[in-house]
Amino acid sequence: MRRIAVLASGGGSNLQAILDHLDALGDAAPAAVSLVVSDRADAHAMERARRRGIEAVHLPRAAAEGALERLLGDSGAEVVALAGYLRLIPPGVVRRWAGHMLNIHPSLLPAFGGHGMYGHRVHEAVLASGARLSGASVHFVNEQFDRGAIIAQWPVPVHTGDTADTLAERVLRVEHRIYPWCVAAVARGDVRLGEDRRVHGDLPYDFPRFGVEGPRHPFVPEG
Ligand code: GRF
Repeated sequence: MRRIAVLASGGGSNLQAILDHLDALGDAAPAAVSLVVSDRADAHAMERARRRGIEAVHLPRAAAEGALERLLGDSGAEVVALAGYLRLIPPGVVRRWAGHMLNIHPSLLPAFGGHGMYGHRVHEAVLASGARLSGASVHFVNEQFDRGAIIAQWPVPVHTGDTADTLAERVLRVEHRIYPWCVAAVARGDVRLGEDRRVHGDLPYDFPRFGVEGPRHPFVPEG
């Protein structure tokens, strides 16, 4: 069974969605989460991992250079999923897991991404811009913040009267749908990063069929 490492700094609801999705796939699951790493010892993501008997490692900000690469390497992780991880990924790690490391971002990239664009700042910037559409994007990780090849996106409407909180919640709901499919699709090899730095393979969802609300969660692909 292929191993997935998840890096998270916060609540870990995306981690939970990945775990639930792999559970729902049962024997058809292409991989299992074997390691969770957090820069915050008190991140709820760590608790979620421990509850499932998954190794949860606190990697303090001051950890030695190379510590993350060693951890991931020793764990045998073939896929690395960033799920609300707020630390910079060292370039050596990005290179080693190129095409096997994904991130989820709470906007329709390339809009509202880049350095300093995380958490509520993203949603505040969307609201300040007057955009009527936001959403979630899953992308491969490269050396630039939020600039790696986009694997999947899902739009959500911005409503009049939205606050950063209400918009964040609407976007998070679709994050929980698309991220697990993408992680599974990359683990399965159905979606991969080509030498041309573009995404190849079939997207793990059928957008017109499911509409903006997406399919039920957890989503089990047919066939
Ligand atoms: C999500 O909105 C994700 O897009 C962003 O950080 C948030 C993490 O939420 N990168 P959670 O920790 O998975 O609940």
